[in-house]
Amino acid sequence: MGSGHRILSFALLLVSISTAVSDPAAKKVNLSLYYESLCPYSARFIVNQLDKIFSNGLISIVDLQLFPYGNAKVLSDGEIICQHGSYECLLNTVEACAIDAWPAVTEHFKFINCVEEMVVDGTYPQWKTCFDRFDDLDSQFVLNCTAGAHGKQLEYEYGAQTDALVPPHQYVPWVLVNGLPLYDDYYKFEIQVCKAYQGEPPKVCQEYQLPVQSSSLIKEIKNSQVSYKDQILIRELSE
Ligand SMILES: *[C@@H]1O[C@H](CO)[C@@H](O)[C@H](O)[C@H]1NC(C)=O
Ligand SMILES: *[C@@H]1O[C@H](CO)[C@@H](O)[C@H](O)[C@H]1NC(C)=O
Repeated sequence: MGSGHRILSFALLLVSISTAVSDPAAKKVNLSLYYESLCPYSARFIVNQLDKIFSNGLISIVDLQLFPYGNAKVLSDGEIICQHGSYECLLNTVEACAIDAWPAVTEHFKFINCVEEMVVDGTYPQWKTCFDRFDDLDSQFVLNCTAGAHGKQLEYEYGAQTDALVPPHQYVPWVLVNGLPLYDDYYKFEIQVCKAYQGEPPKVCQEYQLPVQSSSLIKEIKNSQVSYKDQILIRELSE
């Protein structure tokens, strides 16, 4: 047996290396974010970490999907309640309607990023000014959708998708790469995306091939936020 088998494995290895390097049609990596609009950790993750994949080239290998629902619950009478109150339910619905109105990720993301920037700096009651920032985005559909049954239907759907996660989400932001949750390492999603990609990686991935002790990674870890679960723990410990 031995050598024939080894030669075959070696040949297969060569084939897989050469296709990995040269395949321009390699499948994009699924990056999924389950979050809620007024969660400060979700907002900072969107604004500080996710937004930059649109300028650093990573978006070219990523299929980004947002699920604006988080820790919300549907009561038996159909009412949706949200962790940070009714304003969060409103903005979750606004963002769900934006995704529906503008299916291209570059379009709905720039709007959602604008709203979440306002969450970070506390000015989110002025979220409608985000419509004025982008001439190409028509506000009418999103406003109608948010006020009506369609927006609620979208939130039920995001709720069903969130509640169907296996394993279930434990906190938000909850980030998955090709369906696998990153848990507390969610802020290192770029490394996992680059690792998961089967084609020739974009240049930005070189930054993530450095040893773990590289300065940019250490900076990233130092700047990383604690998760919602940690925040609750910290609060419990200090009580
Ligand atoms: C939004 O609703 C208004 C009033 O009901 C209606 O006139 C308008 O056509 C609707 N726009 C869209 C895009 O559905
Ligand atoms: C990525 O998501 C699509 C559907 O959104 C699914 O069909 C595909 O299998 C996923 N790919 C991986 C590698 O998880």
